Amino acid sequence: MFGIVIHGGAGVLRGHHDLEAYRKGLDSALSKGYSSLAEGGSALDAVVAAVYDMEESGAFNAGVGCSLTVDGRAEVDAGIMNGNDLSAGAVASLDSVRHPVLAAKRVMEDTDHVLLVGPGAMAFLETYGIRSDPELVTPVKLQKLNELRQKWVAGEGRLAKNRIVYDRGARHGTVGAVAIDSKGMISSAVSTGGYWLKLSGRVGDSPIPGAGFWADSRFGGAVATGTGEYAIRTTLCRYAVDLLARQECAQSAADAAIAEVTRRFGNGTMGIIVLDKEGDAGFSYNTEGMGRAAFFSGWEKPLVQVFPEDK
Ligand code: GLY
Repeated sequence: MFGIVIHGGAGVLRGHHDLEAYRKGLDSALSKGYSSLAEGGSALDAVVAAVYDMEESGAFNAGVGCSLTVDGRAEVDAGIMNGNDLSAGAVASLDSVRHPVLAAKRVMEDTDHVLLVGPGAMAFLETYGIRSDPELVTPVKLQKLNELRQKWVAGEGRLAKNRIVYDRGARHGTVGAVAIDSKGMISSAVSTGGYWLKLSGRVGDSPIPGAGFWADSRFGGAVATGTGEYAIRTTLCRYAVDLLARQECAQSAADAAIAEVTRRFGNGTMGIIVLDKEGDAGFSYNTEGMGRAAFFSGWEKPLVQVFPEDK
């Protein structure tokens, strides 16, 4: 048995002008991840293939499609975890890097560290030819930033700690994947631009093991999406995998994790995908929608959904 579960971010998605590209992006990433497993790739290979594809797509808030900081920078975060030995790698506040998931993998495999940030991380990554890509800050994104900044100044947004307006109307999210391979290895990976108007230097849940991602091949794995501060404060992905360790199935672990975050911080905050060692998938979110997809060996066709009513 092998399979993969992915998400393309939880948030306000209905009516968004690029919903078709978003759905196609989910299809494509699922196919890349699943093909990798079907060709004998490991769970790590599969989550990298799926996340890389969503970073390249431009339809998601990661890589090419990443959001901008309040001062117009493309600062991206990513993380990856090998559930066999709990090795993990992550990067934060990378300046305009197109494929931060590859950077996180380098940290996991080629350093003694778990998390590298900012200019130090960029200097390390230069060794591998991973550099800033000016294409991540486009005129279209700068125009959107300008509009959001004007709303912020006009006081239309929601204040968070009196510093940043988090505009729920600005579709947000993260991309992520959890996979199990035929040898039972479970891995997770995540990549994000954070959210529009974030302060430069802000780091969310995505590069924090336990918060934005977790994998333990004995039980399962999880990846979160939404307003990262809430996932950090609840160590959301570790919370979900701990429930798997207590014999919960993937769906009930996902539901319980989102119920906990909703109880503490309200609706419109988070989503999560969970995969357990039996090869079952769980999805839960308290936002309007969450792009999600899954495909396991033995299934007749893949599942690709965005809204609650999607079948
Ligand atoms: N969940 C992505 C972030 O808040 O940065």
